[in-house]
Amino acid sequence: MDMKNRVLELLEEGRGDYVSGQELARRLKVSRNAVWKAIDELRGDGFEISAVTRRGYCLSAESDRLTVPGIRPWLTPETRPGADLIRVYDCLESTNRTAKELAVAGAGHGTVVIAEKQTGGRGRYDHSFSSPAGGLYMSLILRPEKLPFENLAFVTTWAAVAVCEAVEEVTGKKPSVKWINDLLLDGKKICGILTEGVMDFESGSIGWIVLGIGVNVRSKPEDFAVELRPIVGSIDPEGKIPAARCRLAAGIVNRTLGEHIPTQKEILAAYRQRLGMLGKTVTVLRPGEEDFRATATDLNESGHLIVKKEDGSLMALSSGEIHIQL
Ligand code: BTN
Repeated sequence: MDMKNRVLELLEEGRGDYVSGQELARRLKVSRNAVWKAIDELRGDGFEISAVTRRGYCLSAESDRLTVPGIRPWLTPETRPGADLIRVYDCLESTNRTAKELAVAGAGHGTVVIAEKQTGGRGRYDHSFSSPAGGLYMSLILRPEKLPFENLAFVTTWAAVAVCEAVEEVTGKKPSVKWINDLLLDGKKICGILTEGVMDFESGSIGWIVLGIGVNVRSKPEDFAVELRPIVGSIDPEGKIPAARCRLAAGIVNRTLGEHIPTQKEILAAYRQRLGMLGKTVTVLRPGEEDFRATATDLNESGHLIVKKEDGSLMALSSGEIHIQL
């Protein structure tokens, strides 16, 4: 890690508090002049660092830059060593796309690609995913043999629970799940999840999974196209939560790349508990089929949504796009 990032890491540890140049120099085993140079460079990069005589330097508590040194203090001792596998970019076309390229080039389990914004974010069914600045866009490379799931389709269910818990930890707000991969807050979409497999052509099986997660954190309605404004929301639109995006990224990493992965049964119970649509009338839209109305009644042990059609028959949905009728 270069000097700039080492200084940033120490400032992040005490974000909002002053630390003297002498103390920084002592901890990093460098001269005070080297510390001052690093602070100057960080300011040039846009970090708000104040300096007060006899008190030292302080990274503003409001600073919301996404950086590895900003994420690292929020990782658990178990996931912190993996921080070296996190890459943060200012702007990418799509973090899933970059992660897939990295996976093909040999990047390992636990590689994380994060962007401040995306110019070509992708959603399910090849829809676009609006990704303005102020959101968290991240893709994790996962190796199937490191996951305890028999059915890899379960990764999306697991990820939905992990993101819900991380949002709850950071904001104190409780999102609900809209089957299968959307998270809602006050009825508005705040997160989408796109899981993609990368084929291993040697074995003909899935070599890698790229788990893509997009969360609207500080984005405001005007950051989205007019037609999206009524349906999208953000978890901290007023930007009141310090380091919200770094904490959220770490919270997701802690839950997906830590040693302890809950059992399929535990994940389903947590997912079901957050499924806000049970008992509600939904319109089921499936490509190539006629739309129909039904009541969402349950979730089965494979994570399929059970719906009751208007003729009283039950149907398990394993794919398809669901719209909740308002
Ligand atoms: C959906 O709502 O249909 C899924 C949206 C998934 C968006 C995330 S943002 C990070 C990652 N990169 C992408 O291009 N897509 C996923």
